[in-house]
Amino acid sequence: MTFPVTRLRRLRYNSVLRQMVTETKLSADDFVMPLFVCSGTNVKNHINSMPGNYQLSVELLVEECKTIYAAGVKSVLLFGIPAYKDEDGSVACEHNGIVQQAIRAIKKELKDLYVIADVCNCEYTTHGHCGTIIDGDVDNDSTLITLAKQSVSLAEAGADMIAPSDMMDGRVGVIRAQLDANGFEKIPIMAYSAKYASGFYGPFREAAESAPKFGNRATYQMNPANSNEALREVAQDIAEGADIVMVKPALSYLDVIYRVKNEFNMPVAAYNVSGEFSMLKAAAEKGWIDGPRVMMEILTSIKRAGADIIITYHAVEAANILNGKY
Ligand code: PBG
Repeated sequence: MTFPVTRLRRLRYNSVLRQMVTETKLSADDFVMPLFVCSGTNVKNHINSMPGNYQLSVELLVEECKTIYAAGVKSVLLFGIPAYKDEDGSVACEHNGIVQQAIRAIKKELKDLYVIADVCNCEYTTHGHCGTIIDGDVDNDSTLITLAKQSVSLAEAGADMIAPSDMMDGRVGVIRAQLDANGFEKIPIMAYSAKYASGFYGPFREAAESAPKFGNRATYQMNPANSNEALREVAQDIAEGADIVMVKPALSYLDVIYRVKNEFNMPVAAYNVSGEFSMLKAAAEKGWIDGPRVMMEILTSIKRAGADIIITYHAVEAANILNGKY
């Protein structure tokens, strides 16, 4: 049927009806809040390029987690800024590493908060690359060893989920095998499967102090122009045992989220990264856009594209809106 029998506006005249026929509904259950933990006590360093986000020492991080949980966000993703770094990132595997300490402290006070540990070397290496450097480039296979060690150590500290973000080939399989060998067969892996070499990570690198000191990440992260390759990356991670696959960043890659969801029908996570967050905040601060409105529109678009899980610095703000607290 066409006009005048069919009138698509008919379903838009009443707000109750508009709600009833809303296809995509966000919920605080969809969100994961990324957090940055650093050494020391009573440290709360504002991250200039990410308004409202901080590097927090462990005890303040726990307080922040209480606020996040109270807002209805039940999961956090932890990144560590260690007191010192080394060549191969083995600092990240220490029993008393910064994220390990943070996980233990969180679990002591908030056992129901779901804690996801990011696994990567770039915050822990002196050169800022995501793995061990051999002959001027990140060596794939030796990096797998430190990533697996880091994963087991984070699981021992009490992490609920392991999320490798390094983009080495074969890391999901090696991490799965090591987790299983150490009795952590129940710990899921959320793989950053299609992670692009993106300019949108700029503010994060300030936050995590993880910018590469030379070169870039183009030999391991994906070329932004490719999406067939993303499907191959995802297929490989699933074959190696990934439980959840991730596309990162989110906004410039909604088509990739869509393709991954349709092709594999796996739980898909999307990372609404730092640069996406900061752009919105900057424009809102200038009064050029309505910040909360655009935030909800963006988060909805990520879910509409096919993401089941949205990792976002907006998590608490969005949860507050969804729960009627604004
Ligand atoms: C570490 C990592 C990065 C991000 C998450 N994990 C940065 C990078 O790859 O350089 C970026 C997250 C963000 O921008 O919010 N490998």
